[in-house]
Amino acid sequence: MRAHVLTYGCQMNEYDTHTIQSELVSGGHQMVDHPNDANLIILNTCAVRGKPVEKVISVLGEFRKDKRNGRDLTVALMGCLAQLEEGQDIADKFGVDILLGPGAITDILPAVDAIEAGKEHFRSLEFKSDLETYITPAPDSLTGFLTIMRGCNHHCTYCIVPTTRGPEVSRPVDVIMQEAEAMQKAGIQEIYLLGQNVNSYGLGEAHLPSFAELLKEVASTGIPRVKFTTSHPMNFTSDIIDAIAETPNICNFIHLPVQSGSDRVLKRMAREYGRERYLNIIREIREKVDDVVISTDIIVGFPGETEEDFEMTMSLYEEVAYEHAYMFIYSARPGTPSYKHFDDMPKTVKTERLQRLIERQKELSYRANNRYVGRDLRVLVKEMAQKGDYVMGHSDQNHTVLVPKEQISRMGLYDVRIESATPHTLYGTVKGFKSSSIPLMMV
Ligand code: 5AD
Ligand code: SF4
Repeated sequence: MRAHVLTYGCQMNEYDTHTIQSELVSGGHQMVDHPNDANLIILNTCAVRGKPVEKVISVLGEFRKDKRNGRDLTVALMGCLAQLEEGQDIADKFGVDILLGPGAITDILPAVDAIEAGKEHFRSLEFKSDLETYITPAPDSLTGFLTIMRGCNHHCTYCIVPTTRGPEVSRPVDVIMQEAEAMQKAGIQEIYLLGQNVNSYGLGEAHLPSFAELLKEVASTGIPRVKFTTSHPMNFTSDIIDAIAETPNICNFIHLPVQSGSDRVLKRMAREYGRERYLNIIREIREKVDDVVISTDIIVGFPGETEEDFEMTMSLYEEVAYEHAYMFIYSARPGTPSYKHFDDMPKTVKTERLQRLIERQKELSYRANNRYVGRDLRVLVKEMAQKGDYVMGHSDQNHTVLVPKEQISRMGLYDVRIESATPHTLYGTVKGFKSSSIPLMMV
């Protein structure tokens, strides 16, 4: 078949999409660049907030119309939404042909075979163990995502992920290292280790290293950069901070979601840490890791959040001075404990608080970014920027950096002198070339 995958949500979904594509190609199918040219469209979905779900519903509506108008099209719903009753109802309503949960992505070939053989539907919501050892080939890019563990054993009351992705499973080290080495051979310059909770890697499994040990092992391949996401403050231990501080190619960029600055709210969220414990980790990171950039996730307007609670989040912002933050308003998700037990608050209150937080974050990010003006950063230039004459890349600390297109002829690692800053972007000029593998024309 001629297949196209639409990916929503997090980097783990991007990694899964790459696995799905590899499976399809190995099964003799052809990937096409545009959905209009496909007769198999796969939606790899996200269910963490209401908005991405609405988007999927509207896209499915379009495809249903196409099919009713006679288009020969097979539609697959995959990813987190597929695992939920909500997703299964949507699949029924929109005449989806294939439904596979995030633990069953390796069923894509049998699913397509079944549909081609005339079966009306194919569904699988299993958490299959073959994913642990499945080796996904290196992608054709400079950054490679590498899932080291799947699932989540926490039970944050707002979060649907433990339901959609099941309990934590760590992949074997030799499989992870095989993937990392294949990436290095393919010329990948940056490996992103992925998991819902990377620092739970190997917990309770004596034969597996700790996350800090695994980080160092991946870094020992000599790949220029190793990054990771996401971490949970509860088990963000000192050995991880030391590994970052001591190992040059483990990047000094840490995404550590706090979700709220109020102990009362953190408790209702069941986050398993308090404000002071979180701030202690931040202090230790800033003390030990040079030039570190810290980012976070915040949920504004969690049920019962008072103005005083919200002020605690604002004051935590001042103390941490995050360089970057992903800020969300609380979205009541069916199937989560907070949906069941707590009342949502008016949208106007949530949005007004979010606006205040965004304004403050902008100031903090601008101040932090400005500190880099006049300095040189190592930037992995990866793609054409939306802004016409620039190419875009990321620094070791994950800043978005734009440089004039005419200054480079190949994508790759460059030393860049930072000339100016906005809250979201650094602008620079190229000082020197370090390494690359992809000529500019090809990207
Ligand atoms: N509403 C809003 N944001 C949420 N997140 C997870 N669940 C919800 C929800 N119900 C956010 C958290 C998490 C990020 C991936 O998504 O901040 O860290
Ligand atoms: Fe969701 Fe909490 Fe698990 Fe993160 S740690 S995936 S927020 S339940």
